[in-house]
Amino acid sequence: MESYTISDLMRPNILSLTPYSSARNEFDGEASIFLDANENYRDFIGSSARNRYPDPMHKALKKKISETFGFSESSVVVGNGSDELIDLLFRIFCVPRKDKALMLNPTYGAYKVFADINDIGISYSSLDADFSIDEKRMHTQCELIRKGSVETGMHKLFFICSPNNPTGNSFSIDQIESMARCFPGITVVDEAYIDYSDGESAVSLIKKNDRVVVLRTLSKAWGLANVRIGIAIADEKIIEIMHHVKYPYNLSGIQQELAIEALSKKDEVDSVIAFIKEERKRVAERLEHYSFVQKVFPSDANFILVRFDDPLAVYSALLEKGIIVRKRNTVAGCYGCLRLTIGSAQENDILLQTLDSFEERV
Ligand SMILES: Cc1ncc(COP(=O)(O)O)c(C=O)c1O
Repeated sequence: MESYTISDLMRPNILSLTPYSSARNEFDGEASIFLDANENYRDFIGSSARNRYPDPMHKALKKKISETFGFSESSVVVGNGSDELIDLLFRIFCVPRKDKALMLNPTYGAYKVFADINDIGISYSSLDADFSIDEKRMHTQCELIRKGSVETGMHKLFFICSPNNPTGNSFSIDQIESMARCFPGITVVDEAYIDYSDGESAVSLIKKNDRVVVLRTLSKAWGLANVRIGIAIADEKIIEIMHHVKYPYNLSGIQQELAIEALSKKDEVDSVIAFIKEERKRVAERLEHYSFVQKVFPSDANFILVRFDDPLAVYSALLEKGIIVRKRNTVAGCYGCLRLTIGSAQENDILLQTLDSFEERV
């Protein structure tokens, strides 16, 4: 197989796209009277410029992201949650009904949903019973995938979620690097939960392999699930096209302002991450002792996957006390499993007390 450049891998219609140009991007210099975008001259809400369109390039937010995480501003695009960025990658690279995507199984369910919405076929690479990757099998699969071509349709995207949702385990940077080298398309490394892990980020791989895209979100450790901020870090060629394809005003000014504010709270965020990691250990140790628990899977994330004798009975007992957890018992390889998010100390205590009472009943 020949090796493909990023441009080769993109859909031809995206490569030749003339992107929408926002009015405010078309001038240089200072302006004080804005009669270019058909906005209302009145801001009925106050003096916060809610009558004006927000910055489509998120310049101030990107500067703050760059200061906080050390990524260069030109290597970043910000989405309305990382879910928007996942969808964007399908739209940029995958020709509907022709190209395919590869994903681990089990993994984050939204990859399949966005593949289905975009009419993209899926191939799975099953994880082992302990949710690790069988590297030999993975490489054989990659070799088969390399037989496809851009002309006839090929696997364009490979999603690696690390730490993985719902299993909680991470894949080593060496494994990710070698899979990304073997996979001929774009490898997307979803690091939504990396803040809770001690593992190395795949961002360092982008310099060596321009077909790697890393996704981050402010929905988890940064406490902004409601605000919807996702970040993609990639080679500038991919970032440029992601800007062309995203909705011009995909983030409101309010979202951008709140994200900048949250990113100023790094110390507070770091101390809550440390606390959640301690709580994860405490909750996991307690769970190990229940007679109705079969297995507590090790986790590098802010949740724990647990296999129960009777997951639905546990689910109902928790629900009776107003506690909702995530049923994962029908997901591949996760039979008997519920996924428990680590909450506040008080929430975790109530969860454990409810499980203590359940233990007395079984
Ligand atoms: C692995 C993974 N990626 C992405 C997301 C979506 O994040 P966002 O809230 O930024 O859309 C989630 C949300 O649960 C997730 O678990």
